[in-house]
Amino acid sequence: MSVLFKTLGFSLGLTLLFTLVTYLLPQVKGEAPVEKAVDLGSLTMESFIALGDEIFHNKGTCTLCHQPAPLGRAPDIGGEDMVALANKHLADERYQGDAKNAEEYIRESLLHPGKYVVAGWGKKGSNDTESPMPMVDKPPIQLTPIEIDAVIAWLEAKDGGEVTVALPTAEAAAEVASAATADDSGKAPAPATTAEEALAKYACTSCHAMDSNDVLVGPGLVDIGSRLSKEELRQSIVDPNAVVAEGFPPAMPPDFASKMTVSELEMIVNYLAEKKG
Ligand code: HEC
Ligand code: HEC
Repeated sequence: MSVLFKTLGFSLGLTLLFTLVTYLLPQVKGEAPVEKAVDLGSLTMESFIALGDEIFHNKGTCTLCHQPAPLGRAPDIGGEDMVALANKHLADERYQGDAKNAEEYIRESLLHPGKYVVAGWGKKGSNDTESPMPMVDKPPIQLTPIEIDAVIAWLEAKDGGEVTVALPTAEAAAEVASAATADDSGKAPAPATTAEEALAKYACTSCHAMDSNDVLVGPGLVDIGSRLSKEELRQSIVDPNAVVAEGFPPAMPPDFASKMTVSELEMIVNYLAEKKG
Protein backbone atom coordinates (compact mmCIF):
# COMPACT_ATOMS: atom_id res chain seq x y z
CA MET A 1 0.00 0.00 0.00
CA SER A 2 2.60 2.57 1.04
CA VAL A 3 4.46 2.35 -2.26
CA LEU A 4 1.22 3.06 -4.01
CA PHE A 5 0.58 6.16 -1.95
CA LYS A 6 4.03 7.60 -2.58
CA THR A 7 3.30 7.58 -6.27
CA LEU A 8 0.02 9.43 -5.86
CA GLY A 9 0.07 13.15 -6.20
CA PHE A 10 -1.62 16.32 -5.36
CA SER A 11 -4.90 15.67 -7.13
CA LEU A 12 -5.52 12.54 -5.11
CA GLY A 13 -5.03 14.57 -1.95
CA LEU A 14 -7.65 17.05 -3.00
CA THR A 15 -10.05 14.37 -4.06
CA LEU A 16 -9.66 12.30 -0.94
CA LEU A 17 -10.23 15.29 1.27
CA PHE A 18 -13.14 16.39 -0.85
CA THR A 19 -14.86 13.04 -0.69
CA LEU A 20 -14.21 12.62 2.99
CA VAL A 21 -15.49 16.08 3.77
CA THR A 22 -18.57 16.15 1.61
CA TYR A 23 -19.69 12.54 1.55
CA LEU A 24 -18.37 10.71 4.52
CA LEU A 25 -18.81 13.09 7.40
CA PRO A 26 -22.45 14.03 6.88
CA GLN A 27 -23.43 10.46 6.20
CA VAL A 28 -21.59 8.82 9.03
CA LYS A 29 -21.99 11.42 11.72
CA GLY A 30 -25.13 13.18 10.56
CA GLU A 31 -23.42 16.56 10.74
CA ALA A 32 -23.23 19.43 8.29
CA PRO A 33 -20.16 19.23 6.03
CA VAL A 34 -17.01 20.40 7.79
CA GLU A 35 -14.62 22.44 5.68
CA LYS A 36 -11.24 21.50 7.14
CA ALA A 37 -9.33 19.62 9.78
CA VAL A 38 -10.67 16.16 9.06
CA ASP A 39 -9.15 13.52 11.28
CA LEU A 40 -8.08 11.16 8.54
CA GLY A 41 -6.31 9.00 11.07
CA SER A 42 -9.60 7.82 12.49
CA LEU A 43 -10.94 6.34 9.25
CA THR A 44 -12.64 3.05 10.08
CA MET A 45 -13.60 0.23 7.72
CA GLU A 46 -17.23 1.10 8.36
CA SER A 47 -16.73 4.67 7.13
CA PHE A 48 -14.59 3.49 4.22
CA ILE A 49 -17.45 1.23 3.10
CA ALA A 50 -19.88 4.15 3.48
CA LEU A 51 -17.56 6.20 1.27
CA GLY A 52 -17.72 3.46 -1.38
CA ASP A 53 -21.52 3.47 -1.17
CA GLU A 54 -21.57 7.24 -1.74
CA ILE A 55 -19.14 7.05 -4.65
CA PHE A 56 -21.19 4.29 -6.30
CA HIS A 57 -24.36 6.38 -6.10
CA ASN A 58 -22.87 9.81 -6.82
CA LYS A 59 -19.40 10.70 -8.04
CA GLY A 60 -18.80 7.32 -9.71
CA THR A 61 -21.94 7.74 -11.87
CA CYS A 62 -22.33 3.95 -11.65
CA THR A 63 -26.11 4.18 -11.27
CA LEU A 64 -26.40 5.90 -14.66
CA CYS A 65 -26.14 2.35 -15.96
CA HIS A 66 -26.28 -0.07 -13.03
CA GLN A 67 -29.93 -0.13 -11.99
CA PRO A 68 -32.72 -2.68 -11.67
CA ALA A 69 -34.66 -3.56 -14.84
CA PRO A 70 -36.36 -2.06 -16.75
CA LEU A 71 -34.33 1.13 -16.26
CA GLY A 72 -30.96 -0.59 -16.09
CA ARG A 73 -28.46 -0.43 -18.92
CA ALA A 74 -26.13 -2.79 -17.08
CA PRO A 75 -26.36 -5.67 -14.59
CA ASP A 76 -28.00 -4.61 -11.31
CA ILE A 77 -24.86 -5.05 -9.21
CA GLY A 78 -26.25 -2.77 -6.50
CA GLY A 79 -29.17 -5.14 -6.00
CA GLU A 80 -27.40 -8.45 -6.51
CA ASP A 81 -24.66 -10.07 -4.46
CA MET A 82 -21.52 -8.92 -6.32
CA VAL A 83 -19.23 -11.43 -4.62
CA ALA A 84 -21.48 -14.29 -5.72
CA LEU A 85 -21.66 -12.83 -9.25
CA ALA A 86 -17.87 -12.52 -9.36
CA ASN A 87 -17.37 -16.13 -8.33
CA LYS A 88 -19.96 -17.28 -10.85
CA HIS A 89 -18.27 -15.40 -13.71
CA LEU A 90 -14.80 -16.58 -12.67
CA ALA A 91 -16.07 -20.13 -13.11
CA ASP A 92 -17.52 -19.38 -16.58
CA GLU A 93 -15.61 -21.04 -19.42
CA ARG A 94 -15.75 -17.72 -21.32
CA TYR A 95 -13.70 -16.06 -18.56
CA GLN A 96 -10.17 -15.33 -19.81
CA GLY A 97 -9.03 -12.57 -17.48
CA ASP A 98 -6.36 -12.67 -14.81
CA ALA A 99 -8.42 -12.51 -11.62
CA LYS A 100 -8.18 -15.29 -9.06
CA ASN A 101 -10.75 -14.16 -6.51
CA ALA A 102 -13.77 -11.88 -6.16
CA GLU A 103 -11.78 -8.77 -5.22
CA GLU A 104 -9.49 -9.16 -8.23
CA TYR A 105 -12.50 -9.84 -10.47
CA ILE A 106 -14.29 -6.69 -9.35
CA ARG A 107 -11.13 -4.59 -9.72
CA GLU A 108 -10.57 -5.99 -13.20
CA SER A 109 -14.20 -5.19 -14.12
CA LEU A 110 -13.57 -1.57 -13.09
CA LEU A 111 -10.18 -1.07 -14.72
CA HIS A 112 -10.41 -3.38 -17.76
CA PRO A 113 -14.13 -3.93 -18.41
CA GLY A 114 -13.47 -5.61 -21.76
CA LYS A 115 -11.60 -8.56 -20.22
CA TYR A 116 -14.88 -10.30 -19.55
CA VAL A 117 -18.22 -9.11 -20.84
CA VAL A 118 -21.31 -10.36 -19.03
CA ALA A 119 -23.46 -12.27 -21.53
CA GLY A 120 -26.13 -10.07 -23.09
CA TRP A 121 -24.54 -6.79 -21.94
CA GLY A 122 -21.86 -6.22 -24.58
CA LYS A 123 -21.74 -3.26 -26.96
CA LYS A 124 -24.45 -3.44 -29.58
CA GLY A 125 -23.27 -5.59 -32.49
CA SER A 126 -20.11 -6.80 -30.72
CA ASN A 127 -21.58 -10.19 -29.77
CA ASP A 128 -20.47 -9.62 -26.16
CA THR A 129 -16.81 -9.12 -27.04
CA GLU A 130 -16.72 -5.39 -26.19
CA SER A 131 -17.97 -3.74 -23.04
CA PRO A 132 -19.86 -0.43 -22.94
CA MET A 133 -18.58 0.07 -19.38
CA PRO A 134 -16.11 2.97 -19.11
CA MET A 135 -12.74 2.45 -17.37
CA VAL A 136 -13.38 4.05 -14.00
CA ASP A 137 -9.83 5.37 -13.50
CA LYS A 138 -10.00 7.35 -16.78
CA PRO A 139 -12.03 10.46 -17.64
CA PRO A 140 -14.89 11.13 -17.35
CA ILE A 141 -15.29 9.06 -14.17
CA GLN A 142 -11.68 9.18 -13.02
CA LEU A 143 -11.79 7.60 -9.59
CA THR A 144 -8.58 7.56 -7.55
CA PRO A 145 -7.08 4.28 -6.32
CA ILE A 146 -8.43 4.94 -2.81
CA GLU A 147 -11.90 5.62 -4.17
CA ILE A 148 -11.77 2.43 -6.22
CA ASP A 149 -10.81 0.47 -3.10
CA ALA A 150 -13.72 2.07 -1.25
CA VAL A 151 -16.19 1.04 -3.99
CA ILE A 152 -14.85 -2.53 -3.94
CA ALA A 153 -15.11 -2.63 -0.14
CA TRP A 154 -18.76 -1.57 -0.39
CA LEU A 155 -19.56 -4.08 -3.15
CA GLU A 156 -18.03 -6.83 -0.99
CA ALA A 157 -19.68 -5.74 2.25
CA LYS A 158 -23.20 -4.82 1.20
CA ASP A 159 -24.47 -8.43 1.10
CA GLY A 160 -22.49 -9.57 4.09
CA GLY A 161 -19.34 -10.68 2.28
CA GLU A 162 -15.85 -10.48 3.75
CA VAL A 163 -14.06 -7.22 2.95
CA THR A 164 -10.66 -8.07 1.54
CA VAL A 165 -9.38 -4.62 0.50
CA ALA A 166 -7.11 -2.85 2.96
CA LEU A 167 -7.97 0.44 4.58
CA PRO A 168 -5.67 3.32 3.56
CA THR A 169 -3.18 3.58 6.44
CA ALA A 170 -3.38 6.62 8.72
CA GLU A 171 0.13 7.55 7.66
CA ALA A 172 -0.74 7.44 3.97
CA ALA A 173 -3.99 9.31 4.47
CA ALA A 174 -2.25 12.01 6.49
CA GLU A 175 0.45 12.38 3.83
CA VAL A 176 -2.23 12.76 1.22
CA ALA A 177 -4.12 15.28 3.35
CA SER A 178 -1.11 17.47 3.98
CA ALA A 179 -0.51 17.71 0.25
CA ALA A 180 -3.96 19.23 -0.22
CA THR A 181 -4.46 22.94 0.14
CA ALA A 182 -8.15 22.37 0.76
CA ASP A 183 -9.39 25.94 0.22
CA ASP A 184 -12.27 25.04 -2.01
CA SER A 185 -12.26 21.29 -1.79
CA GLY A 186 -15.62 21.02 -0.05
CA LYS A 187 -17.62 23.15 -2.43
CA ALA A 188 -19.89 22.05 -5.26
CA PRO A 189 -18.01 21.53 -8.55
CA ALA A 190 -17.44 24.81 -10.40
CA PRO A 191 -19.32 25.35 -13.68
CA ALA A 192 -17.42 23.99 -16.67
CA THR A 193 -15.65 26.61 -18.78
CA THR A 194 -15.41 24.69 -22.06
CA ALA A 195 -17.72 22.30 -23.91
CA GLU A 196 -15.24 19.44 -23.46
CA GLU A 197 -15.18 20.04 -19.71
CA ALA A 198 -18.97 20.10 -19.59
CA LEU A 199 -19.24 16.84 -21.57
CA ALA A 200 -16.85 15.19 -19.12
CA LYS A 201 -18.53 16.70 -16.05
CA TYR A 202 -21.92 15.25 -17.02
CA ALA A 203 -20.43 11.94 -18.19
CA CYS A 204 -21.87 12.36 -21.68
CA THR A 205 -18.72 10.69 -22.98
CA SER A 206 -19.44 7.55 -20.91
CA CYS A 207 -22.37 6.88 -23.17
CA HIS A 208 -21.54 8.71 -26.42
CA ALA A 209 -18.50 8.43 -28.70
CA MET A 210 -17.72 11.96 -29.90
CA ASP A 211 -15.36 11.08 -32.76
CA SER A 212 -17.12 8.15 -34.38
CA ASN A 213 -20.53 6.59 -34.81
CA ASP A 214 -19.65 3.71 -32.49
CA VAL A 215 -22.46 2.86 -30.10
CA LEU A 216 -21.41 2.91 -26.45
CA VAL A 217 -24.73 3.14 -24.60
CA GLY A 218 -26.19 5.84 -26.84
CA PRO A 219 -25.48 6.75 -30.48
CA GLY A 220 -22.10 8.13 -31.58
CA LEU A 221 -22.28 11.90 -32.06
CA VAL A 222 -19.56 12.52 -34.66
CA ASP A 223 -22.07 13.91 -37.20
CA ILE A 224 -24.91 14.87 -34.88
CA GLY A 225 -24.69 18.49 -36.10
CA SER A 226 -25.84 17.44 -39.54
CA ARG A 227 -28.70 15.34 -38.12
CA LEU A 228 -30.17 17.68 -35.51
CA SER A 229 -30.73 21.45 -35.37
CA LYS A 230 -29.61 23.45 -32.34
CA GLU A 231 -33.18 23.48 -31.10
CA GLU A 232 -33.40 19.68 -31.41
CA LEU A 233 -30.02 19.25 -29.74
CA ARG A 234 -31.12 21.36 -26.80
CA GLN A 235 -34.31 19.33 -26.48
CA SER A 236 -32.46 16.02 -26.71
CA ILE A 237 -30.42 17.05 -23.66
CA VAL A 238 -32.97 18.76 -21.40
CA ASP A 239 -35.99 16.65 -22.38
CA PRO A 240 -34.43 13.46 -23.75
CA ASN A 241 -37.59 11.39 -23.72
CA ALA A 242 -39.53 13.79 -25.97
CA VAL A 243 -37.85 12.24 -29.02
CA VAL A 244 -36.02 8.95 -28.56
CA ALA A 245 -33.42 8.02 -31.19
CA GLU A 246 -34.63 5.06 -33.25
CA GLY A 247 -33.37 1.67 -32.14
CA PHE A 248 -32.29 2.88 -28.67
CA PRO A 249 -33.87 2.52 -25.24
CA PRO A 250 -34.89 5.80 -23.55
CA ALA A 251 -31.71 5.68 -21.51
CA MET A 252 -30.56 9.29 -21.30
CA PRO A 253 -30.62 10.62 -17.75
CA PRO A 254 -33.73 12.88 -17.63
CA ASP A 255 -32.41 15.37 -15.07
CA PHE A 256 -29.70 17.35 -16.88
CA ALA A 257 -32.01 20.37 -17.00
CA SER A 258 -31.91 20.65 -13.22
CA LYS A 259 -28.16 20.16 -12.96
CA MET A 260 -26.62 22.20 -15.78
CA THR A 261 -26.04 25.89 -15.90
CA VAL A 262 -27.43 27.70 -18.95
CA SER A 263 -23.92 28.43 -20.17
CA GLU A 264 -22.90 24.77 -19.89
CA LEU A 265 -25.93 23.75 -21.93
CA GLU A 266 -25.24 26.37 -24.61
CA MET A 267 -21.55 25.38 -24.85
CA ILE A 268 -22.54 21.75 -25.36
CA VAL A 269 -25.23 22.61 -27.93
CA ASN A 270 -22.84 24.83 -29.93
CA TYR A 271 -20.12 22.19 -29.78
CA LEU A 272 -22.43 19.40 -30.98
CA ALA A 273 -23.90 21.62 -33.72
CA GLU A 274 -20.39 21.88 -35.20
CA LYS A 275 -20.02 18.09 -35.35
CA LYS A 276 -20.72 17.36 -39.01
CA GLY A 277 -18.74 14.13 -39.44
C1 HEC B 1 -22.01 3.72 -19.22
C2 HEC B 1 -22.57 2.66 -18.47
C3 HEC B 1 -21.82 2.15 -17.23
C4 HEC B 1 -21.30 2.89 -16.20
C5 HEC B 1 -21.31 4.40 -16.01
C6 HEC B 1 -20.73 1.93 -15.26
N1 HEC B 1 -20.89 0.66 -15.73
FE1 HEC B 1 -20.27 -1.06 -14.82
N2 HEC B 1 -20.90 -2.16 -16.43
C7 HEC B 1 -21.64 -1.64 -17.48
C8 HEC B 1 -22.06 -2.74 -18.35
C9 HEC B 1 -22.90 -2.60 -19.62
C10 HEC B 1 -21.55 -3.93 -17.76
C11 HEC B 1 -21.71 -5.35 -18.29
C12 HEC B 1 -20.73 -5.61 -19.41
C13 HEC B 1 -19.40 -6.06 -18.87
O1 HEC B 1 -19.32 -7.15 -18.33
O2 HEC B 1 -18.42 -5.30 -18.99
C14 HEC B 1 -20.81 -3.52 -16.56
C15 HEC B 1 -20.15 -4.40 -15.70
C16 HEC B 1 -19.70 -4.06 -14.43
C17 HEC B 1 -19.18 -5.00 -13.46
C18 HEC B 1 -19.08 -6.50 -13.64
C19 HEC B 1 -20.44 -7.11 -13.34
C20 HEC B 1 -20.47 -8.62 -13.42
O3 HEC B 1 -21.54 -9.20 -13.16
O4 HEC B 1 -19.47 -9.24 -13.73
C21 HEC B 1 -18.87 -4.28 -12.32
C22 HEC B 1 -18.29 -4.82 -11.04
C23 HEC B 1 -19.17 -2.89 -12.62
N3 HEC B 1 -19.68 -2.80 -13.90
C24 HEC B 1 -19.01 -1.85 -11.72
C25 HEC B 1 -19.23 -0.51 -12.02
C26 HEC B 1 -18.97 0.57 -11.09
C27 HEC B 1 -18.48 0.40 -9.66
C28 HEC B 1 -19.24 1.73 -11.75
C29 HEC B 1 -19.06 3.15 -11.26
C30 HEC B 1 -17.76 3.50 -10.73
C31 HEC B 1 -19.71 1.37 -13.09
N4 HEC B 1 -19.69 0.01 -13.20
C32 HEC B 1 -20.11 2.28 -14.07
C33 HEC B 1 -21.94 -0.33 -17.72
C34 HEC B 1 -21.56 0.75 -16.93
C1 HEC C 1 -26.41 6.75 -19.44
C2 HEC C 1 -26.04 7.00 -20.80
C3 HEC C 1 -26.19 8.41 -21.38
C4 HEC C 1 -25.67 9.57 -20.89
C5 HEC C 1 -24.87 9.79 -19.59
C6 HEC C 1 -25.96 10.59 -21.87
N1 HEC C 1 -26.68 10.05 -22.90
FE1 HEC C 1 -27.29 11.03 -24.57
N2 HEC C 1 -28.31 9.35 -25.17
C7 HEC C 1 -28.26 8.12 -24.55
C8 HEC C 1 -29.13 7.19 -25.29
C9 HEC C 1 -29.37 5.72 -24.93
C10 HEC C 1 -29.67 7.92 -26.38
C11 HEC C 1 -30.64 7.38 -27.44
C12 HEC C 1 -32.06 7.37 -26.91
C13 HEC C 1 -32.61 8.76 -26.83
O1 HEC C 1 -32.64 9.46 -27.85
O2 HEC C 1 -33.04 9.16 -25.72
C14 HEC C 1 -29.14 9.28 -26.27
C15 HEC C 1 -29.42 10.30 -27.17
C16 HEC C 1 -28.73 11.51 -27.23
C17 HEC C 1 -28.84 12.46 -28.31
C18 HEC C 1 -29.69 12.30 -29.56
C19 HEC C 1 -28.91 11.47 -30.53
C20 HEC C 1 -29.60 11.21 -31.85
O3 HEC C 1 -28.96 10.56 -32.70
O4 HEC C 1 -30.75 11.64 -32.03
C21 HEC C 1 -28.00 13.52 -28.00
C22 HEC C 1 -27.75 14.77 -28.82
C23 HEC C 1 -27.39 13.21 -26.72
N3 HEC C 1 -27.85 11.98 -26.28
C24 HEC C 1 -26.49 14.03 -26.05
C25 HEC C 1 -26.04 13.80 -24.76
C26 HEC C 1 -25.30 14.77 -23.97
C27 HEC C 1 -24.86 16.15 -24.44
C28 HEC C 1 -25.07 14.18 -22.74
C29 HEC C 1 -24.40 14.79 -21.52
C30 HEC C 1 -24.94 16.06 -21.08
C31 HEC C 1 -25.63 12.84 -22.79
N4 HEC C 1 -26.22 12.65 -24.01
C32 HEC C 1 -25.57 11.92 -21.75
C33 HEC C 1 -27.53 7.80 -23.43
C34 HEC C 1 -26.84 8.71 -22.64
